[in-house]
Amino acid sequence: MHSIMPIFGTRPEAIKMAPVINALEESPHFRCIVTVTGQHREMLDQVNELFGIVPDHDLNILQHGQSLSAILTRTVDGLETLFAHTRPDAVVVQGDTTTSTAAAIAAFYHGIPVVHVEAGLRSGDLHSPFPEEANRKITSQIASLHLAPTSVSEANLIAEGINPDDVVITGNSVIDALLATVGKEVPFTDPRLEELAAGGRNVLLVTTHRRENQGDAMRGMGRALARIADAEPGLVIVLPAHKNPVVREALLPLLEGKANIIVTEPLPYGEFTRLLSLARFVLTDSGGVQEEAPSLGKPVLVMRENTERPEAVAAGTVALIGTDEERIVAEVTRLLKDADHFAAMANAVNPYGDGKAAARTVAAIAELLGVGFRIGAFTGG
Ligand code: UD1
Ligand code: UDP
Repeated sequence: MHSIMPIFGTRPEAIKMAPVINALEESPHFRCIVTVTGQHREMLDQVNELFGIVPDHDLNILQHGQSLSAILTRTVDGLETLFAHTRPDAVVVQGDTTTSTAAAIAAFYHGIPVVHVEAGLRSGDLHSPFPEEANRKITSQIASLHLAPTSVSEANLIAEGINPDDVVITGNSVIDALLATVGKEVPFTDPRLEELAAGGRNVLLVTTHRRENQGDAMRGMGRALARIADAEPGLVIVLPAHKNPVVREALLPLLEGKANIIVTEPLPYGEFTRLLSLARFVLTDSGGVQEEAPSLGKPVLVMRENTERPEAVAAGTVALIGTDEERIVAEVTRLLKDADHFAAMANAVNPYGDGKAAARTVAAIAELLGVGFRIGAFTGG
C-alpha cells in the first residue's frame, strides 16, 4: 500500500482537498497521511470538521499578521522535521496558496513526487493575484503530476513546456464538494440568516479578502456597499467576513449601522452554500466562489481586474468589474434593475467540473505510482 500525504493549510484548500482525501481513503491502494500547516486556524478547522477529516499532523504555523515569508519558512521547516521520520510515496498539494507552494518545494527537495491539484490556472499577471500567480507557476515547475481542472488550464501548462503526458484534466474538486454539500439544507446558526431564508427579499452575497485589494480598494468596496444599501432598502447585503483583521478594519466601519447589511463570521461551508443558493447574485474577489456560483446559476460580479478562471466569463455568468467604487455601485444597480441583463447572466453552467474530479485524481495518482490507470478526462461544462 502506498502512503499519500495531502498537505494543505487554508479554507479553500481544505474544501477542495476534502473530496480527494475521501476518495483516497476509499481506495485499496493508498494510505492517507493528512497533514495541515495551520496557515488558517478557525477557517481550516471549520471545513475539516464538516468533512470529517482529522489531520494526522498539524504544523500549527499561523501567526496573526503573518508575512508570506513566515508562511513559507515555517511550512518548509515543519515539513523538514516531518519528512525526517515520515516519508510518503507522494505529496498532494492544491492550488496556489503559500502553504501549497512551500509544501511542494519541501517535498521536491526530499525527492518526493508532487501531485498538483488545480494546476494550470493563469491570470497572465505575476502581480495579480499576488502572490498566487507566482506560487502556482513555481509549483508547476516541480510537480510530477498536474491535475488541470479544464482544457484551458491544460493548455496553459503545455504552453509553458510541461509534458502533456503528465497532465490530466479532472475538473475542479470544488464542484465535488459543492454537489456533496449544497442540497443538505443545514440550518443557519445566525438567526438573521434563518429569517432571511424565510423572507423572500433579494440577497446580495459579498466576500472579499485578496491581498492586492487590501487598503484603498477595499475601503472603496465598503463605501460602495454602504451606498447600495442606502439606495436599495429592499435588498439585503450579507458579508461573511474573512478572519483577516486587515480586511475587517478596512470594511466593517463603513458598514456599521445599516439595517440591510448583515456581517457574519466565516460561515461553515454547508451554511455558505445554502446562502449562495438563496442569493440573487454575488459580488466577490474569491477564486472558489467564482467556480461555485455559476453551477447554481448565480450571476457573479468579480472585483478584480483579471481572472485565472476565464471559463465562466466566456459563458456569461461571471463579469470582471474591477474595484472602482463607482463601477461597483453601477454594476450592482444594473443587475438589480435590468431584468434582461440579469437573465442573461443567470444561466447555470458547469465549466469547472462534474463532481467526479476526485475519482479522476485518485486514478491519475494510481497511474503515477504504477498501481492503476487514469480514467476519462473531464470534457467541459
Ligand atoms: C490566504 C491565501 C490566499 C487564499 C486565502 C483564502 C496565501 C498567500 N494566501 O490569504 O491565496 O485565497 O487564504 O482565504 O497563501 N486569520 C485567522 N484565522 C483564520 C484565517 C486567517 O485569524 O482561520 C487571520 C490571521 O490574522 C492571518 C490573516 O487572517 O494573519 C491572513 O491570513 P492569510 O492566510 O495570511 O491570508 P491571505 O494571504 O490573505
Ligand atoms: N466559503 C465558506 N464560508 C464563507 C465564505 C466562503 O465556506 O463564509 C467557501 C466558499 O464556498 C469557497 C471558499 O470558501 O469554496 C473560498 O474561500 P476564499 O474566498 O477564502 O478563498 P479563495 O477561493 O479566493 O482562494
